[in-house]
Amino acid sequence: MNLRKMWLNINGANRMIICNPEKDTLADVIRRMGLTGTKIGCNKGVCGSCTVILNGKLTRACTKKISKTDEYSQILTIEGIGTPTNLHPIQVAWMNCGAVQCGFCVPGFHRFLLCASDREQQSHPRGGPRLVPEAS
Ligand code: FES
Repeated sequence: MNLRKMWLNINGANRMIICNPEKDTLADVIRRMGLTGTKIGCNKGVCGSCTVILNGKLTRACTKKISKTDEYSQILTIEGIGTPTNLHPIQVAWMNCGAVQCGFCVPGFHRFLLCASDREQQSHPRGGPRLVPEAS
């Protein structure tokens, strides 16, 4: 087993990781760092509970091989969205609508909505009806 050192930018901070490029997925690496908000459900790229934003794109972390991830890639996990005392508007809307259910897949849905919100902002920068509440 050949281990490799690499750097990733996770939630805005550069972090050095040690990984097994032959075996590890992005989800394996993220979870080993203690960022367990990235959940593993199907582990086949189907359910979306492991979704992160990798270099601005929604990515199923369970099927993304770390060997195919560029050094210093920017990764946004649920831990990088809001704080317990300053929730992101998507998190507040989720609570207000009672959409949490069991909570297992919520981090993946949040990242999907955050990405959708960013795209919506780019395509409708002057306001109007919005799918996702604006971040303050
Ligand atoms: S765990 Fe289901 S898509 Fe990754």
